[in-house]
Amino acid sequence: MAAYKFIDHTYDVVVVGAGGSGLRATLGMAEQGLKTACITKVFPTRSHTVAAQGGIAASLSNMGPDNWQWHMYDTVKGSDWLGDTDAMEYLARSAPAAVYELEHYGVPFSRTEEGKIYQRPFGGHTTEFGEGPPVQRTCAAADRTGHAILHTLYGQSLKHNAMFYIEYFAIDLIMSEDGACQGVVAWKLDDGTMHRFNAKMVVLATGGYGRAYFSATSAHTCTGDGGGMVARQGLPLQDMEFVQFHPTGIYGSGCLITEGARGEGGYLTNAEGERFMERYAPTYKDLASRDVVSRCMTIEIREGRGVGPEKDHIFLHLNHLPPEALHERLPGISESAKIFAGVDVTKEPIPVLPTVHYNMGGIPTNYWGEVLNPTAENPDAIFPGLMAVGEAGCASVHGANRLGSNSLIDLVVFGRAAAIKAGEVVDPDAPNPPLNETSVEKAMDRFDALRHADGQTPTAALRLKMQKTMQNNAAVFRTEEVLQEGCVLMSQVAGEMKDLKVTDRSLIWNSDLMETLELTNLMPNALATIVGAEARHESRGAHAREDYPNRDDENWRHHTLAVVGDDNSVTLTYRPVHLDPLTTHDEGGIDLKKIAPKARVY
Ligand code: FUM
Repeated sequence: MAAYKFIDHTYDVVVVGAGGSGLRATLGMAEQGLKTACITKVFPTRSHTVAAQGGIAASLSNMGPDNWQWHMYDTVKGSDWLGDTDAMEYLARSAPAAVYELEHYGVPFSRTEEGKIYQRPFGGHTTEFGEGPPVQRTCAAADRTGHAILHTLYGQSLKHNAMFYIEYFAIDLIMSEDGACQGVVAWKLDDGTMHRFNAKMVVLATGGYGRAYFSATSAHTCTGDGGGMVARQGLPLQDMEFVQFHPTGIYGSGCLITEGARGEGGYLTNAEGERFMERYAPTYKDLASRDVVSRCMTIEIREGRGVGPEKDHIFLHLNHLPPEALHERLPGISESAKIFAGVDVTKEPIPVLPTVHYNMGGIPTNYWGEVLNPTAENPDAIFPGLMAVGEAGCASVHGANRLGSNSLIDLVVFGRAAAIKAGEVVDPDAPNPPLNETSVEKAMDRFDALRHADGQTPTAALRLKMQKTMQNNAAVFRTEEVLQEGCVLMSQVAGEMKDLKVTDRSLIWNSDLMETLELTNLMPNALATIVGAEARHESRGAHAREDYPNRDDENWRHHTLAVVGDDNSVTLTYRPVHLDPLTTHDEGGIDLKKIAPKARVY
């Protein structure tokens, strides 16, 4: 065994990750008096939630009529009927209370003239079960909503005495002999010490794996660490083939221009100056759902109507909007457009391109955040001691496609739900069982092998190969030929992990080693994505197969489960979508006829 000394910590709950869901879970746990630690590889307010711009969806009705049933309908339709109905009801019903809670914690939301929380339109959010005009449902703090939420939740967590372990990298989960999660091994990046965290409940809030792709709006830290840790325990990942492309990443840098820009009146044009979305989505136009807009932009470019010298992108116009409105509502993206595209948004359009933005798939959970380990007998079997929330998890509320601003609300609703559940199942008076040494040794042996990896392939070179393969072979539009080629290429790329070269062997601020550990996390996420995509012979939400252009509810309305083996093989099974809501229509729940599957048009 690799010889490392440990500093030991004992907690009721350890949360890994300090983005919106991690902080909301941490706060909720600590508020109830559970002894709670949050481990994070970056300073909490630098977590990727800080980059969330446009807002958080909740049917507050501050700007016009709205209700949770309309929000639920839009979420069901947005998911292309792959989301779990109970989880989607929980999200839409809990959203207003969760937002008011944020307001009371101190989130500085933008305000209406009457002092209410300001709400803007976002794609796919409608009234009257998709029959009425767009709704203003997305609560915003200008275009820095994630920033505002993150700072507030961090302050509140500190107030409730949650303990933060900042710039600690979680290496692996610790599993008991009888197969429950009992903690995490972590590496303190600034002094090289190793830490064992013993916990009655571990919550993975590690975010998405956008960096498996070459061009992503995600931070470089979005490396699917939770998914990687879970996959190494032989547990499945769910619905990984569904990768969201945001329509408006800045051409070249991939930096996000919020959908709120279109919510505030922005629109897209092609090389002919045509507002082409009117042709594809006559009712909601530029405010159709993201997967739809991304596909339409891609078609325009493919058919030769892209803008720029290489006709390879699209223009987003804000230059017709009053400069005061841009200053008040969209100050952040005005700055980003200047820095990353050299564009003054009051005068010129922004060059944009669909860019990887969000992973609908993740670690399968129920709507309490409890991780599932489905079996043939029980597709909803719970894996003890482990929860996953936020983009790392898959509850599944977003199904095959997430609506804009449903991510921030997912973070706080399910972070909060995990805390409620932990309050029920974690006994603060019970002793923590001793850690399973064998599991710790396994984690450290892996760490040590990577630290001393002495092959020929630098981590950055292999990562780039993976990113280019995913970008080319699991893109907006997909075909059998391209996906099959992608599976072969990704299997070769993953095989090259054996040949990695880590140059720096030290333990203090060793970014080479940290990026290598991150690559070992990205890889199973990427493999599950491309293999799941090749296998799914239909088009649904963000998964657009040119060879199977239609949604096939009879054969494919189920969740994909992907187990990634140590040999990089991917084994797929499937589990049923939850079709039952939490409450019946008689009890005040949604009318099931309203959310029955139908053609998804905007
Ligand atoms: O466009 C945006 O502001 C992104 C929001 C989201 O992904 O929910």
